[in-house]
Amino acid sequence: MARIFMTGASGYIGSVVVEQAIPKGYQIYALSRSEASDEKIKAQGAVPIRGDLKFYDVLREQSAQADIVLHLADAYAGNFGMDYAEVVRIDNAAVDAIGAGLDGSNKPLVITSGTLVVAPTGRVTTEESALWDKPLNDRISSEQHALKLVNKGIKVSAVRLSPFVYGRGASGVRLFMMMFANGGEVFYVNDGDIKTSAVYVDDAAALFLLAAEKANAGDIFNATSINDVTTRELSEAMGSILGLPVKSFSYDDTVSKFGEFLARFLNAENQASGAKAKSQLGWDPKGLGIIDDIKIGSYVAVAEGLKKPVA
Ligand SMILES: NC(=O)c1ccc[n+]([C@@H]2O[C@H](COP(=O)([O-])OP(=O)(O)OC[C@H]3O[C@@H](n4cnc5c(N)ncnc54)[C@H](OP(=O)(O)O)[C@@H]3O)[C@@H](O)[C@H]2O)c1
Repeated sequence: MARIFMTGASGYIGSVVVEQAIPKGYQIYALSRSEASDEKIKAQGAVPIRGDLKFYDVLREQSAQADIVLHLADAYAGNFGMDYAEVVRIDNAAVDAIGAGLDGSNKPLVITSGTLVVAPTGRVTTEESALWDKPLNDRISSEQHALKLVNKGIKVSAVRLSPFVYGRGASGVRLFMMMFANGGEVFYVNDGDIKTSAVYVDDAAALFLLAAEKANAGDIFNATSINDVTTRELSEAMGSILGLPVKSFSYDDTVSKFGEFLARFLNAENQASGAKAKSQLGWDPKGLGIIDDIKIGSYVAVAEGLKKPVA
């Protein structure tokens, strides 16, 4: 039975990876920071290993004992005030510790990145497209740092997730719905005609396992099943399910009300193609589309919960 060591197994995407890996016969050992995460991990049939991204001995030892390592934890998750240079430092040191455990083994290590590392071009982009010189954050540094472990005889690959990983009524779509419900209106930036990409969480999870099983050293895969949904379409779908008015905010208004990061995120074009994962790994994304999931799928219950009771 192949043994996987995972970081981020208690999170949104990681828990779906565990859910899919256990029936495939994998044994999962999962980094866990708390008793609450221990319980979640155990309930899924995996083994919690106490530690965090700074427990270098744990990362090294667990990686050495594993056949596959999947790295999904992100020090920035739930800690959005953290200086991103610190996020990169934490990630690079953790990946070095994982690398020390895998050194010379040719075992697979799959790390997590994002499609927003690539520059918007007004057209569909691939994993080979030019990097963005004004990215939202410096995630590319962590991706490049991890991929260098190829030189240490490790089969490293990277999954670049879409800005919107959605489904199961959670993650970014849910957070935006909460923000809009709180403000009593839904908005998009400028004309809202910016195209972005998305992937259903179960499909994203499946890609991590496929990369572990079939990727070559140094491969990068975009995890996108949709790359032409506009930000206006997303906002209109959320507005209709929340029963709220939908408006356009100028970019400057969005910055002054919500800060530059959110304004840039909502105005970031991303037409990354998932074709490479489909052709090379046989990735077959099957999830409900993001608009349908908002209007008739898992976000319907979220909207019901957010609607204020009529006085
Ligand atoms: N969800 C999206 O839409 C999306 C889009 C693009 C990229 N991503 C990336 O995909 C990965 C997984 O995202 P997610 O949505 O599943 O995140 P999530 O639900 O917030 O889960 C984050 C995971 O990382 C763990 N973690 C956080 N800080 C840690 C630390 N310092 N040491 C050890 N573990 C730590 C958390 O453990 P606890 O349970 O103990 O908190 C949790 O298991 C991240 O790298 C994220 O940046 C996600």
